[in-house]
Amino acid sequence: MSASNNDISVKIGPVAFKNPVFLASGICGYGEEYASIIPQKKLGGIVTKTITLEPRAGNPPPRIRELPTGALNSIGLENVGLDAYIREKLPLLKDLEVDAVVSITAETEDEFTRIAEAFAPLEGYRGIELNLSCPNVEGTALDHGRDPAYVEKITSIVKERIPKKTLWVKITPNLADVGLVARAAEAGGADAISAVNTVIGTDFDLSTGKPIFARVGAGYSGPGILPIALFKVWEVAHSVSIPVVGIGGISSVEDARKFFLAGAIAVQVGTALYSDPELPIRIVEALRAHPEWARREGGST
Ligand SMILES: Cc1cc2nc3c(=O)[nH]c(=O)nc-3n(C[C@H](O)[C@H](O)[C@H](O)COP(=O)(O)O)c2cc1C
Repeated sequence: MSASNNDISVKIGPVAFKNPVFLASGICGYGEEYASIIPQKKLGGIVTKTITLEPRAGNPPPRIRELPTGALNSIGLENVGLDAYIREKLPLLKDLEVDAVVSITAETEDEFTRIAEAFAPLEGYRGIELNLSCPNVEGTALDHGRDPAYVEKITSIVKERIPKKTLWVKITPNLADVGLVARAAEAGGADAISAVNTVIGTDFDLSTGKPIFARVGAGYSGPGILPIALFKVWEVAHSVSIPVVGIGGISSVEDARKFFLAGAIAVQVGTALYSDPELPIRIVEALRAHPEWARREGGST
C-alpha cells in the first residue's frame, strides 16, 4: 500500500491509529500527567504505565541516574494495580480523547488470565501491550519473557480474551536471539512486537564503592541505546510477518526515520520526553509532510 494525501494512519492488528507515533510505557504515566504539556490526541496514541494485578510500591531509591548518553532506571513497576486503574485511570483516557494501549504484566499465568478477563468487557482503550521484558523486578515477566513457550502461551491467553483489540508483545533487548521470542509471540497471536524495552546496565558510586541501585542491574534508556534498538528491530522485522513497533533512544525526527528503515511501522518515544516533550508531535508533523518516510506494512517487506 502506498501512502497518499498525507494519510499516515496505521493499522496494527484489528485497530487503526491516526498516525504511527506513540509515547512509550512508563514515561507518560496514565495519560493525565502529560495532558497539559503534550497534545496527546494528535499522536497515534500512548502506552500507559505497566500495571499489575495488585498495586506495587516499586523499588527503594535511588531509582533514576542520569548519564551523558541517557539514563539508568530502577523504578520496579510502581503502579496503582488493576482495580484502581480500571476505576480511576481508564475513564480519564476518554476525557483526554487519547487512544491508549494499556501495558500489563504479571507473575503467573493465572494473574495474566485475570487481568485479561478484567479488560475483556471494557471499552475506552485500543489494546494491550504485554510487558514481558521489565528488568527491574525479580521473578516477573523478564524471566518469563526469555522463554519462547511461555511467551506463546501468555500471548494466546490474552489475545483470546480481547480479539477485537490490538495486542502488542514488548520484548527485551537483553537476549542474543530476539527473533525466537518474537516468533513465539507471533505464534501466540500477537498483533505486533514492541521492541525494545531497556538494556540492562549498572553504575557504581565511587564514594562508597557500591552499586548505585539496590538491585544492581537497572534499565538503560535514551540516545545511547539507539543502535542496539535499531538492530533488534531489524532482527525482529526479519523474523516475523506481524508489525514491529520500534522503541529505544529516539531523540530526533531522524532517529524515528531510522526505525522505519529498520522495519518498524510505528515508533514510541520514551526518555527523550523528559527533555524534549514536543518531539513526538514534531515526528508526526514530519511524517505528514513526508508520508513516504513511514512504513505501512509489517515484516521485512
Ligand atoms: C523511567 C522509566 C520507566 C519505564 N517504565 C516502563 C514500564 O512501566 N513498562 C514498560 O514496558 N517499559 C517501561 N520503560 C521502558 C520504556 O518504555 C522504553 O522501552 C525504553 O525506555 C527505551 O526507550 P527510550 O530509550 O526512548 O526511553 C520505562 C523507561 C523509563 C526510562
